[in-house]
This record gives sequence, C-alpha cells and structure tokens, in this order.
Amino acid sequence: MKANIVVGVTGGIAAYKAVEVVSRLRKLGATVDVIMTRNATQFITPLTLETVSANPVTVDTFVRERSWEVGHVALAHKADLFVIAPATANLMAKMAHGIADDMLTTTLLATKAPVLLAPAMNTGMWTAPATQENLRTLLARGARVIGPGSGSLACGDVGEGRMSEPEEIVAEVERLLCAKRDLAGLRVLVTAGPTRERIDPVRYLSNDSSGKMGYAIAEAARDRGAEVTLISGPVALAAPQGVDVVPVETTMDLYRVMLERCPGQDIIIQAAAPADYRIETPSEQKLKKAGQKRTLTLVENPDVARAVAAQRAAGQVLVGFAAETQDTLANAREKLERKGLDMIVANDVTLEGAGFATDTNIATVITRSGETTYPLMSKRELAERILDSVRAYFRDDRGAE
Ligand code: PMT
Repeated sequence: MKANIVVGVTGGIAAYKAVEVVSRLRKLGATVDVIMTRNATQFITPLTLETVSANPVTVDTFVRERSWEVGHVALAHKADLFVIAPATANLMAKMAHGIADDMLTTTLLATKAPVLLAPAMNTGMWTAPATQENLRTLLARGARVIGPGSGSLACGDVGEGRMSEPEEIVAEVERLLCAKRDLAGLRVLVTAGPTRERIDPVRYLSNDSSGKMGYAIAEAARDRGAEVTLISGPVALAAPQGVDVVPVETTMDLYRVMLERCPGQDIIIQAAAPADYRIETPSEQKLKKAGQKRTLTLVENPDVARAVAAQRAAGQVLVGFAAETQDTLANAREKLERKGLDMIVANDVTLEGAGFATDTNIATVITRSGETTYPLMSKRELAERILDSVRAYFRDDRGAE
C-alpha cells in the first residue's frame, strides 16, 4: 500500500495498541508519521513509536523542525489519511469544536485528508450526551469512526468503550484507501427525496425527506464505477457530478419515470419517500378560506416499488427502504415481501441521528437470508455498506459477476 498515513495517538490506556497499528501499516508498505499528544507520552514513549514507524515522532508544536517546513502544515498536506488511535473523548471534543492547542489538533484542523477515529474511553464518557453530540458532528463532517467495541475496560467497567483491535483498524484503513471500483460496468438507479402532492398552486402535501440518503448512495455508486441515474424529488441538494439526474415532483411522476427507466438497470435502490396519497382534484387557483373546516379528498398513489418489481428485468436487484416509527424490523420484513424486493434497509426514523434530514443514519439491511445492523454513521458511510451488501447479493444470490 503506497500511502502516507499520519497516526495520531492520544492519552488513553489503549495507546500501547498504537504500536501494533503502526507496525501493521508499515508492513503493508505505508509511510507512517506519528503525532502524540503530551498525555499519550504518559502511556507510551515516543521512542517506541519512532522505532516502529522509522520516523521522528512529533509531540510539541514549537520544537524546531530539522527542515524549514512548518510541521503541522507539512504533515497536514502530506497525509493521505489520518488514523487517530486511540481517540479520547477530549480529542473528539476538540476536533468537533475546531480547537487547535497542540500539534495533533492543529494538524487535524489544517488537513483536508480523511480522518479515521478509533475511540477508546470509559463507557460513561462514551455515552455522555456531549461525546455523542461531538460524534454526530464529526460523522456529519465526514469523519470515519471504527468502534468502540464492548468488553471489560481498563477502569474495571464492562461496556462500550474498548478500542477496536489493531487488525480491525488496519483493515478499515485498507478499505478507505483502496477505493473499490466494484460497480464498474453496472447501471444503478437510485431514488431520493420526497414527492409533493399539489393542493393548489401554492400548497402541497409532502414529508421531511431531504434527499441526503439517496444522494449519498448515488455518489458512492458513481465513485465505485457505476453508471448512475438519480431520480430525485424536490430537494435543496446540488446535483452530483457525473450522475444522470431526473427531477420529479409527484409520486405519479416518479411512477412514470421509474417504469420507463428501470428496464435497463442492473440495480435499483429506492431511498425516496414518495407520498402514498395525492389530492383527488387539486385546485387550479389558490384556495380561499372556507370557514372552520375544509375537506380534502385523498386518493391512493400507486406503489412504485411494487410496480417496478412486477416488471423486473431478468437478474435485476431491487432494494427498498422502510421508514418506520414502530416495529421497525417486522414492518420492514413485511414490506420486503409485499413489494417484491430483494433487500430492504430498515430505518427507525425515531432514533436520534437517524432518518429524515440528518447527515447520519442507523439502519438494518435485511434480505431473505440474513440481517446486518449498522450503528450510527454518516449517510455516505451507510451508503457504502449498503452497496457492499448489494454487491455481495449481486454476486452470490443472483449468481452474476
Ligand atoms: O432523504 P433523507 O432526509 O436523507 O431521509 C432518508 C429517508 C428517511 C427518506 C430514507 O432513509 C428512507 O427511509 N426512505 C424510505 C421512505 C419511505 O417512503 O418509506 P416507506 O416505508 O413509506 O416505503 C417503503 C419503500 O417503498 C421505499 O423504498 C419507498 O421508496 C417505496 N414506496 C413508497 C410509497 C410509494 N407509493 N411507492 C413506493 O415505491
């Protein structure tokens, strides 16, 4: 692996595991620079990390560099990836708030490279609202997070907060750096956003979908080499480059476009939130006040996913989403069957950080042969995981390659 990786080590008992992280990265061929916080040096010596990384270890911002490069800027520019292992609650709080008061946080603030955090802390600190809020902020800004796992902690507690194992962290690094092109040659259609059902020229029925989940899937599929069509309801997001975006407004629009576009697709992922009902007779003029009550008659819209399944082309993989507020998994499994899907992403939209308009999500990917639950992560990260599942399904269950 030809990559420049900066490993940040902060002050936690798991700091000793950073040695193995650095050693494994070096064995894979990466160039590794280590930045330690002063607290980290209480747990492990810079000399140890200097020896395994074969590079000088930086701790202080103001130690004179041997070269004329400004230390934090040089490493910020040089890095292809930052790995912070362990990442303490303090480091996450500083990152979330843009605090730059030592070499590590200064470099992190200056870099444009992706950052992978491996949190390690006491369970109480991890579950504290402040840490969880900081986690959401960092995920929303695109940070990748691995772990923490559960187990017995150095403080004697048993629970969440254990740093992921070095081999897991390094596998994640490989995943991040060796961007896959595993969808090259495949046509992927994604739906995103809400629909609007007109009441009159100035009013409509809709929902809170922002389109972020569907757009994240479309962008991830594009980056993995797919030819992507994005059918989008009205949203405030910029059209992704290199993606064929087809705007729709109503569920009937979506229905018509889907029946036309789906036959040529290999994979269809429906993250949109189409309205189930429309106004029977929208008014051509703005409605005037009509006393204390007004009755609007709604008629059912077609089930787009079901219609797509009914005309499924041979070998197509159909993925739906289920936005639920109760009995999430049972309802999602029922929708998987009723809509004739191969896979459904169950989304409990009542969970903090999940569902409509957030930058993060929590979901369970369900097929007829199994289920995988993904914890809080950015919508982009979840998009990657969904595509991993779809790719595996495409290969294994569908027998294609
Ligand atoms: O857009 P964001 O703000 O990022 O929010 C993401 C999301 C919450 C919208 C997304 O993660 C999600 O859950 N999308 C599905 C929303 C939805 O309509 O769920 P549903 O359970 O009502 O529908 C199930 C499936 O049937 C969906 O794939 C939906 O696209 C499809 N459907 C629904 C109604 C309809 N008339 N026709 C359909 O095809």
